[in-house]
Amino acid sequence: MHSLASEVEVALKALAGPFSDRGRVDRAAERPRRDGLSPAAERGKQESLAADAGRGRSDEEKEENQMAIREIRARDLNARAFIEEKVREIRSAVGDGIAINALSGGVDSSTVTLLGHRALGRRLKTYFIQNGLMREGEAERIVALFRKFRVPVEVVDAQTKFFRALKGITDPEEKREAITQTFYRDVFGRLVKASKAKVLLQGTILTDIDETVAGIKRQHNVFEQLGIDPQKAFGYKILEPLVQLRKDGVRKVAKALGLPETVYGRMPFPGPALSARVIGEASPARIRLVRQATAIVEQELAKTRAFQYMAILHEDRVTGIRDGRREFGFQIEVRCWDSVDARTATPTRLPYAKLDRLARRLTSEVPGVVSVTYNITPKPPSTMEAV
Ligand code: XMP
Repeated sequence: MHSLASEVEVALKALAGPFSDRGRVDRAAERPRRDGLSPAAERGKQESLAADAGRGRSDEEKEENQMAIREIRARDLNARAFIEEKVREIRSAVGDGIAINALSGGVDSSTVTLLGHRALGRRLKTYFIQNGLMREGEAERIVALFRKFRVPVEVVDAQTKFFRALKGITDPEEKREAITQTFYRDVFGRLVKASKAKVLLQGTILTDIDETVAGIKRQHNVFEQLGIDPQKAFGYKILEPLVQLRKDGVRKVAKALGLPETVYGRMPFPGPALSARVIGEASPARIRLVRQATAIVEQELAKTRAFQYMAILHEDRVTGIRDGRREFGFQIEVRCWDSVDARTATPTRLPYAKLDRLARRLTSEVPGVVSVTYNITPKPPSTMEAV
């Protein structure tokens, strides 16, 4: 018998293994080798194989597992046929039981929710985990959208748990870990157990697996490829209907399912949500501040059609002046990226008038903000998120 907590710890250790600070590899050590594997990829592979061995699974099984994923490119994808096939697969995996999933409102989890609903109707239990780190109005917007599809979404208020886990943590990687543990162990793990669901539907896509195994980005939803058996670790089976697709493929399926462009065309948003946009401690007050700034940046830059844009709250404060008085206030950094796949990116050349407007709105509408900067550094050496 494995306790859930200890299994999650094993899972998290294996996930954290190939990564350095920020869940990313040391870039200096990232030069590709002649065999095509970067040192981090090799490390990731070795650690996942070691984890397999620890669980009595052979290397061949592991290889088979990875080989079993056949990529479907967006241009070759027949979205309707794909939907029918996945609906059939979900039905046969769940039988007459129930399945459960967490909906964040991003394109992947939204697509999985609709696939699951088509397959199972009310036998799919969908939860929105309110971790307190989401953007403004997110829970209401998502519940309302899915109501149109007759999909009931239960909002679970877990803010206290997440903020308690984040309290006093300033290190980026520790923040990510606190969120992952809180989600899988304290919040979602308990919900799955209470619901008696045997199957968890999850929106993992092929890029999540590639990046995790290669050590580029830690993805909290990848287990099997790192040698972790979710059935043993969490007591439930994980079904990943989108695992053969990349983002462009998922967008096609989402559109074919009837989701609106606000969902299928939505820009990426990190799993750790706004805590990735706060340098230093992600306290409720600091998250509130960055949330307000995010809403303004998203409104102002929506028409740019850039790959991703964001507001970041700095840890340091600076001296400003307001109404003739000194104000030791907050700094917001705006980032807006042009990119194809997030592996490299360049700052969008925004018109100066737009930057000017952002500075005016952020300093007048977000209490305490006295400084606004625009990032002009490409990735690399910058990364897209600041944490
Ligand atoms: P970076 O900051 O690594 O970001 O250049 C590249 C892309 O990945 C997203 N990102 C994350 N997504 N969990 C996620 O699910 C994370 O911890 C995370 N960190 C960065 C980021 O928003 C960008 O699209």
